[in-house]
Amino acid sequence: MNSQIPLGIVIAVGNQKGGIGKTTNSVHLAAALGLEGRRCLVIDLDPAAGATRHLGVPENSFAGSLELLTTEETVRSLAVTENLPRGLHLIASRPQLSELDTLISKFIDRTCILDRPLSLARQLYDFIFLDTPPSAAATTTVASYASSEWFLLSAFPHPLSLGGLSEAFNDIADVRAHRNPELEVLGVVFTNVDGRATRLKAELDAVVNDAMPGRRFETTISQAVIIPTLSGKGKTLFQIPKFNRVAAARQYRQLAAELEHRVLNRDEFLAGTLPPYQAQVDQATVRFADELVSACGES
Ligand SMILES: Nc1ncnc2c1ncn2[C@@H]1O[C@H](COP(=O)(O)OP(=O)(O)OP(=O)(O)O)[C@@H](O)[C@H]1O
Ligand SMILES: [Mg+2]
Repeated sequence: MNSQIPLGIVIAVGNQKGGIGKTTNSVHLAAALGLEGRRCLVIDLDPAAGATRHLGVPENSFAGSLELLTTEETVRSLAVTENLPRGLHLIASRPQLSELDTLISKFIDRTCILDRPLSLARQLYDFIFLDTPPSAAATTTVASYASSEWFLLSAFPHPLSLGGLSEAFNDIADVRAHRNPELEVLGVVFTNVDGRATRLKAELDAVVNDAMPGRRFETTISQAVIIPTLSGKGKTLFQIPKFNRVAAARQYRQLAAELEHRVLNRDEFLAGTLPPYQAQVDQATVRFADELVSACGES
């Protein structure tokens, strides 16, 4: 797959609400696509540097998104490529990114600051994930929405998410009207889903269906305490032994396949005529099930 021309697809991962899975989704979707042979870049555009820490890259150890946006450096010279999940490169962040507004000229259009770096990134990578901070007004958020063709919304099934989703849909409508008519909602991911919160999930479903019919991802990500634990250790689910035994890892692989199905069939998807993604039976899971059966002496 790597000899092919890169797909060059840019996905802004957003929602101005904090702590609703933007970073976790960015790094896990990139890592899941990387496992399938896709070349992925995560650009950490948050001074809180969540993606950088989640990927185990010590803050301040690398020049990164600040330099990408304020100097002539490029994604080629700045990408961290070692000790990361397979197929995943990172443009790191650090707290100094919060000084971005004072470092860029007053006279340039701030909504365009990602255009130059992304034009090279599109030539090198299949998928570029922009992990944005929890503020719709932040310069990096606005620039991300202005330069992407896809917007991926993350939501936890929590009562506060209902208002957050509506605000996010309004922001997207604003961006489309005033700056980037190409921006389309790739999907809404429900994550950290507790199997018992069915009423809340149904309410969220209704909000998404009203505003954006057909855009919720079929695949949801379950609540998994291992995710924050691994994040604290700078690892994704895909960097632990036998990761396919963890439901959330299998779900992220399926979500990545669903995402790919949508972007590779953009016209049909946007027209509402794309058949839903058919989950493939995961061969590793089948093998694991077979092992269990034979261990129990039933085969
Ligand atoms: N499926 C899940 N199960 C359990 N915990 C999760 C899950 N997904 C994310 N989390 C945890 O929820 C917290 C918030 O997630 P994350 O940092 O991805 O959100 P965010 O939207 O990027 O936050 P911020 O807006 O602060 O950048 C983290 O501690 C993360 O490990
Ligand atoms: Mg984050």
